[in-house]
Amino acid sequence: MKYEDNSNYVLVIGSSNIDLNIYSKKLPTSGETVTGGKFQQNLGGKGANQAVASIRSGSKTVFIAKVGTDIYGEQMISQLSKEGINTDYMIHDLSESSGIAFIMVDEKGENMISVAPGANANLLPHEIRNNSELIKNAKVVVVQMEISTDTIEEIFNIASQGDAIKILNPAPLKYLSPHILRNIDIIVPNEGELYGLHSSLNLGDLTLDLDGKMKQASRDIAKTGITTIITTLGSKGSIIFQADTDIFTHIPTLDVQVIDTVGAGDCFIGVLASIINQGEDIVKAVKYASAAASIAVTREGAQDSMPHREEINVNFKKLEKLRNRGEL
Ligand code: ATP
Ligand code: RIB
Repeated sequence: MKYEDNSNYVLVIGSSNIDLNIYSKKLPTSGETVTGGKFQQNLGGKGANQAVASIRSGSKTVFIAKVGTDIYGEQMISQLSKEGINTDYMIHDLSESSGIAFIMVDEKGENMISVAPGANANLLPHEIRNNSELIKNAKVVVVQMEISTDTIEEIFNIASQGDAIKILNPAPLKYLSPHILRNIDIIVPNEGELYGLHSSLNLGDLTLDLDGKMKQASRDIAKTGITTIITTLGSKGSIIFQADTDIFTHIPTLDVQVIDTVGAGDCFIGVLASIINQGEDIVKAVKYASAAASIAVTREGAQDSMPHREEINVNFKKLEKLRNRGEL
């Protein structure tokens, strides 16, 4: 049986990077040099991070990305395979080097990131078409925006011919045409991306208080045809907006000691996709995602920080207990 004949898998398509991290007391300002930091080379890239979060939380996971024909590309594929991710569909670029991210993290866990996409930017629509069956047969398809918009459009066009639940993490935010948005089931922006997306679609002014602003932005964006918007709010958790019922549900997160938030959003999205793949409803899936991301922020690195299912279950129970007691 071919792998794609059994549709119970999460398919992540996106970027794979090597993260070059410096952890120091403070972030430099423009023109300033800060010394005394600690260096670490980590595996990252939004797509690869989300694939690791998905498999560690218990779903069969396939990952498509383009890497350079270099030592970094080999490292990425080998590490993702060790995780148990199916990397058979990954592609080597003959002209570009692998994606690299320079990341600076300060003692409060705040970060600055600069990415040289390299091979990631060369993942082309025709390479996506070569994997049409894999895309159409997936239960959940997850995409972020460190690859070209044409490629993203092609992925969702093909996925729409099957039954996959289509998730887009609009990060880093670029212009998204109404056509792409119509083809997505769930969009997961952070707060800045929600407002950026609203503004890029020329949906009018958002003049209300913070809560009203978030609700108006979600309702306006849903008019493009997206049924579910999940906005992540850092330490404040996340808000699910279900357009068919016009219901907003706040899912809190746990109060933890933050070390490094790099990959927190990726952890949230990978776990969300994985739990949906396991047949749970959206609210339960977001609770698991929140429980997982509250672990990821307490650890250094991106892929290294992704929790396993047993650890997520522990935090999920804590979160439920606090919610039931009305303490969150
Ligand atoms: P990043 O770019 O840092 O990966 P993001 O901007 O995409 O993250 P956030 O909204 O900051 O997304 O965080 C995603 C999720 O991670 C939140 O919804 C929350 O569940 C969890 N999280 C983030 N920051 C914290 C924190 N300080 N404490 C606990 N949980 C957090
Ligand atoms: O979301 C975090 C990721 O963004 C990092 O791992 C880095 O590679 C950048 O792509």
